[in-house]
Amino acid sequence: MTATTIDGKAFAAGLRARVAEGAAKVLAEGGRKPGLAVVLVGDDPASSVYVRSKGKATVAAGMESFEHRLPETTSGAELVALVDRLNADPAVDGILVQLPLPSHIDERAVITRIDPDKDVDGFHPVNAGRLATGLEGFVPCTPLGCLMLLRDVLGDLSGKDAVVIGRSNIVGKPMAQLLIRESCTVTVAHSRTHDLPGVVRRADIVVAAVGRAKMVQPDWIKPGATLIDVGINRTKAGLVGDIDPACASVAGAMTPVPGGVGPMTIACLLRNTLVSACRRLGVAYDRAL
Ligand code: GUN
Repeated sequence: MTATTIDGKAFAAGLRARVAEGAAKVLAEGGRKPGLAVVLVGDDPASSVYVRSKGKATVAAGMESFEHRLPETTSGAELVALVDRLNADPAVDGILVQLPLPSHIDERAVITRIDPDKDVDGFHPVNAGRLATGLEGFVPCTPLGCLMLLRDVLGDLSGKDAVVIGRSNIVGKPMAQLLIRESCTVTVAHSRTHDLPGVVRRADIVVAAVGRAKMVQPDWIKPGATLIDVGINRTKAGLVGDIDPACASVAGAMTPVPGGVGPMTIACLLRNTLVSACRRLGVAYDRAL
C-alpha cells in the first residue's frame, strides 16, 4: 500500500482564490481592500524571504500590503510604538511581527501589544485563551492549515485518536486545541514522552512538529493513519520533514515536504486577514473559508 499524497499546494491555491473573491467583496461592500501589515526587524535572510512572499501573496489576493522593514538596532520601545500606530490605523486589519526578533527585544512585550482583534498570527494570549475556551478569535496559521487538510482528507474527525508531537505555542498547543474542538481524543507528545513509538502507534492522526529530520519511522505508524508533517529541516540532502517518507508504505495519507503544510500557512494568513477585515467592516464572510 502507498499513502495518498495530501496536496497542500493545490489546496492552498484554492483557498487563496476563495480569499481573493472575499477580498473583492470587501472592496465592493466595505469600500476598501483588506490590509495586512508585516513588520520585519533586522535582515535575517530566511525571514526576509518569508516577508517578501507574504507581501506578494497579499497583493495577489487583492489586499493591501504594508511592509515595515526596521534596522537590527531598533529598540523594543520603537517597535512597540510602531505596533501602536498599526493598532490605531483603520486601513490595517492584520498585524504580523515576523519572529524571531533580535535578542535585545522582548518578544512577549511586542506580541502582547498587538490588538488581539488584528492579531492574524493568533499569537496573542487573548487569542490562545479564546481558542482554548471556544470563543471566536484568530487561530495560528500553521495549525489552522493542518486542520483544513485533515478535514479535507477525513471529513468528520470526531472520535479519532490524534497524536501531536511537539508542544510549542505556535503549532503543538493550538493544534491540540483545534483537534479537541473537533472531538478527537488528543495526546500531546514531546521530548520527555516515554515510548513515543508506542504512543504514535495508537494514532489515527499524527501531526509532527518537532524539527527533527525524519524522526517518525514507518514501524511507528498504525496502518491507514493520516500523517501531517509540519517539519522543515534543512539537511545536506535538501529539505526534509519530521516524518520519514518511507512511512508512506504504512499510512493512508500523508503530506509531502515541501508542498504539504508549508503553502497552507501563508494562505491561512490571508484567510485570517480577510476574516478580520470582514469583522471590522461588518461584511458577511463565508464560514467555509
Ligand atoms: N516566523 C516563522 N513563521 C512565522 C509566522 O508564522 N509568524 C511570525 N510572526 N513569524 C514567523
